[in-house]
Amino acid sequence: MKGIILAGGAGTRLYPLTIVTSKQLLPVYDKPMIYYPLSTLMLGKIREVLIISTPEDTPRIRQLLGDGSQFGMELSYAVQEKPEGLAQAFTIGREFIGDSPCAMVLGDNIFYGNGLNAKLRAARNAAEAGKATIFGYYVEDPKRFGIMEFEKTDEDNGHGVRILSVEEKPKEPKSNYAIVGLYFYPAGVSDMAAEVKPSARGELEITTLNDMYLKQDRLNGQLLGRGFTWMDAGTFDSLQKATDFVSMIEQYQGMTISAPEEIAYHLGWIDAEGLRNAAARYGKSPYGDRLLAVLEGKVVI
Ligand code: G1P
Repeated sequence: MKGIILAGGAGTRLYPLTIVTSKQLLPVYDKPMIYYPLSTLMLGKIREVLIISTPEDTPRIRQLLGDGSQFGMELSYAVQEKPEGLAQAFTIGREFIGDSPCAMVLGDNIFYGNGLNAKLRAARNAAEAGKATIFGYYVEDPKRFGIMEFEKTDEDNGHGVRILSVEEKPKEPKSNYAIVGLYFYPAGVSDMAAEVKPSARGELEITTLNDMYLKQDRLNGQLLGRGFTWMDAGTFDSLQKATDFVSMIEQYQGMTISAPEEIAYHLGWIDAEGLRNAAARYGKSPYGDRLLAVLEGKVVI
């Protein structure tokens, strides 16, 4: 199973913040935004990840994350020349993906909640068995997102749903459930993505790709329920909310969330020495201190 982080886009909704900086490198409280989607893929035990960004931002992201060996991972990089749509990630990543199933997470999407691991595991198993998975989350402003229409089923863990339709930013949404920026696809996704035609706004929409899987009866749906938080930190308001949320959780619980080094340590991808070295890079920051607390065995999960 491979993974892609799509960290593209001009970020114009955040101008002037993103004129000279990548959106995905902006802070969400104590760490760069891209640490969150990276952590999400890691929780899905995905160790080989391709990061796709703009020509300007790719070198900066590489400067931050390098080859991934500090996380016991293999990170590689590719450029999306123009923001021509999310589905393009799978043709850009064709060689990287090869004949593996592949997950993709958007670089500004933050997932937090107990039970994520089990959902990721289910999606991964489905992808290995030839089916794609999308995740739905209740939102108040459904016109801003890809939206899933679904009916409940008795299958899975109670959160599996039967998808009836998917629509990108519908004028008349059929539900309030956004399709979040985390997708799992079976082997062959690059060939499917190559068939996607540009939408009215000129983009190769991920929703069109999902619709192709739906028409082939190969699209699973999972809901992220009430105990779950999903945020897309791509606007001023949502970025501010994400920062408030993470600061509240971290200060209240006294532990870091979405720290790739910590996850790598718990997964056994790096050892104590690797974690100590990684913490040393962060100097006197609270982020580095909290990594050291993991080493002292104070935090066990
Ligand atoms: C994209 C997708 C949309 C999805 C959203 C999640 O929208 O096109 O289907 O719901 O990400 O963050 P965009 O952020 O490009 O407007």
